[in-house]
Parts: sequence; C-alpha cells; structure tokens
Amino acid sequence: MAGAAVPSVGLQAADDAAVVQVGETQLVLTTDFFTPIVDSASDWGAIAAANAFSDVYAMGGTPAFALNLVAWPRDELPTSLLAEVLLGASEVAAEAGVAIVGGHTIDDPIPKYGLAVIGTLDTGPALRLDSAEPGLDLILTKPIGTGVLTTAHKAGECPEDQLRSAVLSMRTLNRDAANHVRTSGARAVTDVTGFGLLGHALRMARASGIGIRIDSASVPLLAGASDLADRGFVPSGTVRNLEAVEQSLESSLQRNLLLVLADAQTSGGLLAAIPSGADTVYPVIGQTTDRPGVLEVV
Ligand code: CO
Ligand code: CO
Repeated sequence: MAGAAVPSVGLQAADDAAVVQVGETQLVLTTDFFTPIVDSASDWGAIAAANAFSDVYAMGGTPAFALNLVAWPRDELPTSLLAEVLLGASEVAAEAGVAIVGGHTIDDPIPKYGLAVIGTLDTGPALRLDSAEPGLDLILTKPIGTGVLTTAHKAGECPEDQLRSAVLSMRTLNRDAANHVRTSGARAVTDVTGFGLLGHALRMARASGIGIRIDSASVPLLAGASDLADRGFVPSGTVRNLEAVEQSLESSLQRNLLLVLADAQTSGGLLAAIPSGADTVYPVIGQTTDRPGVLEVV
C-alpha cells in the first residue's frame, strides 16, 4: 500500500470517531479512557469498554479490535484488582465481538482505564454529526443522569438500586441502538457523553447548520437523577457544560432541570436525528429547526 490513508472523517469534523479508507476497507478509529467512576473494579472495566466502543457505533461502524490503555498505582493497588477491571472489559468485549489484542500499562498514582478501538464501516455510510437538516425528529436511546448518580455515589448518597440501574445503562452497548437508528433512516448521529445532552445537541446543531428544540418532559431520566441534582450532587463538568451552551440557549426552565439535561454522561446513549414520524422504539425528545445554532429547551 502506497501513501497515507486519507481520512473521510478526521480532526476537522470533530465527530465521534475518525474514518479512514485503507484499501477497500473503511476503518473507524477512536480511543477513550477515564478514572474510576464506581467502586466495583469489574463494573468500571465493563463501562469503560462499552464507552470506548460507543464512538464506533455512533459512526455506524462495528468495533472489531481493541488495545487496553492502563494507568495503575502498582505500589498501592494489587494487580488482582486490575485483573478484575480487565475481566469486566473482556465480558463486554466478548458481547460486542471485539478482540482485545494488546495494550500498554504505566505506573500512575491515579488509576485510569480505557481502550483504543478499531472498527469497520460495512453496513452503510458513516453516521455523521454534520448532516442533520431542519424538520427531523430527535431520539435518545438511553436515559440521562449518570454524572449526577455517580457523583452522589462517591459521596455515599446514591441509593444502591439507583446506582445499579445507572451501571446497567452504562454497561449496555450502543450496538442495537445504532442498528435501530440506521434502520430508521437517521440523518445525523452522535453519542451523548462528556458534554451532556445539551452540549452534544448543540454540537450537532452547529455542525449541521441547524437549530434544535428539546422537549424536556420527553427526555428519559435515570431514577433519582433529578432529586440528587436538587440536593447538589452535580459534577463540575456538568456545571461547565451548562455554562458552555448558555450563549446559544433559549429556555425559561429552572436551572436545576437544565443542569440535569447538561449532565456529563459516561457511556450515554445515541442522539439521532431521524425523519419526522419514522418508526422508533425510543423516545422522541425534540426536533431539529431552521434556526442555526439555537438550542431551545421547553
Ligand atoms: Co462520541
Ligand atoms: Co469520545
């Protein structure tokens, strides 16, 4: 093979993952890693894997191979605990059909785990961020609130059953959701992660040159998210997310509800713009509009 592969979705696009053509194959490339968000090492590993694969699904790709990225305080934490992290990740990788084929570990006082992922795009064109148009329905495939719940959990204030449903949601692959949004004729797709629902919606609006209106009452929330946010368990990233969209935001809703909608998510669901009235099993949470760069929340 001569010359470097030319990206069809690269750094400029700021999409979920890069897409490069190599020979006959379109590869989807992404990486993600973070510090522990739950006490269970295997849950953390599983969530990190589902989260890393998510950007491939969000492009319409199929993750195929992955490499572990590990930072570990080897003098302070036993390697048996790291083995639990890797076991949790391997369970989710097996479910996704991904082969974890290597990786790298460094000594670090703060543990971090994630993966670099290589997938293929073989079911159709990439599901991009910048191809929405006015008049589409917006659907969301997972409930919002993992940032608030894990923040309350770290303070010892998240009820066990509520944490459990957040963990189950974060462990869930976006594979079925991605198949669904493609079948629904999605024009633009992204996954809701660190910038929160409002942040990722605004990114889609700006990239596509459209506006977005979100109907807050239709947005699915994890049980407890609203109450725990009212009690002040709001991560700093969530506060920054709301500040970052405020210039573009039109809303008369209470700040606490907006904070929940801006909550920084880990391994969140897909946000997809699909034709108005298309068949969908997921909640319709809003519409795209012809007001470029304007985010209305009603
Ligand atoms: Co993403
Ligand atoms: Co990412």
